[in-house]
Amino acid sequence: MDAELLLAHVLGVPRARLLTLDAVADDDAARFEGLVEQRADRVPLQHLTGRAPFRHLELAVGPGVFVPRPETEQLAGWALDRLAGTEGAIVVDLGSGSGALALSIAHEHPGTRVTAVERDPGAIAWTRHNAMARVGAGDTPVGVVQGDMTDPSLLAELDGRVTVVVSNPPYVPDDAVLPREVADHDPPSALWGGPDGLDVVRGMLAVAARLLHPGGWLGIEHADQQGTALPAVVRAHGGFTDVEDHPDLAGRPRFTTARRR
Ligand SMILES: C[S@@+](CC[C@H](N)C(=O)[O-])C[C@H]1O[C@@H](n2cnc3c(N)ncnc32)[C@H](O)[C@@H]1O
Repeated sequence: MDAELLLAHVLGVPRARLLTLDAVADDDAARFEGLVEQRADRVPLQHLTGRAPFRHLELAVGPGVFVPRPETEQLAGWALDRLAGTEGAIVVDLGSGSGALALSIAHEHPGTRVTAVERDPGAIAWTRHNAMARVGAGDTPVGVVQGDMTDPSLLAELDGRVTVVVSNPPYVPDDAVLPREVADHDPPSALWGGPDGLDVVRGMLAVAARLLHPGGWLGIEHADQQGTALPAVVRAHGGFTDVEDHPDLAGRPRFTTARRR
């Protein structure tokens, strides 16, 4: 599959067109071979093509930014369901990376006032790049703010006004062993979340609680092993009701949601 996608990338055609391909020019073949070698050396496919699909969008990615994952698409879908029937609702995406969640929400629920927060200077260049590209494509502009999702004064102007806070924070426990694609290519600040992986989430809950209006929604992605621990941390905060955990399409615990009291 990856080899086919790389060849389609080199030739600038959709993968399905490979079926009707008669020949590949020598320089294309050489470029393809180079990319296959890099992929065999565990460089992520998306870094080689420079693109990552996410729901209805294709985002630019590369060194310095977390490659958006298909399992996060469901968290975006959950947020969009919460926004159904709203107009001009305020949404905040904490730890936006490529902008996958923020930009999908703006694209699929036009008119929503979305703010993407990213701390890492390398990653936020990609957030900004993708946000500009979506404006060029006609989507509602997304505000991009450099900030720390655990900062008690983050986005103070939105206190008590936000309808949905979503986050796919760094949540990998410090002792986890990761595939080379992830360990060598996703930025460390996108991955590591302390001894149990939940340090950043603990810091972020107070910010989310402050931003959300009563009845507003919080959705946080987590690792497979955190389907009990993360809901417990959210319940222990005290500011949320309706704490629930949700599986991904593979049936693994994937994100926790809650409502602001
Ligand atoms: C797992 S990635 C998720 C990126 C994107 N939301 C997605 O789903 O593909 C986590 C992101 O949070 C950012 N981040 C980590 N700690 C942060 C903090 N304290 N404040 C803001 N952003 C942070 C990382 O730089 C990274 O871009």
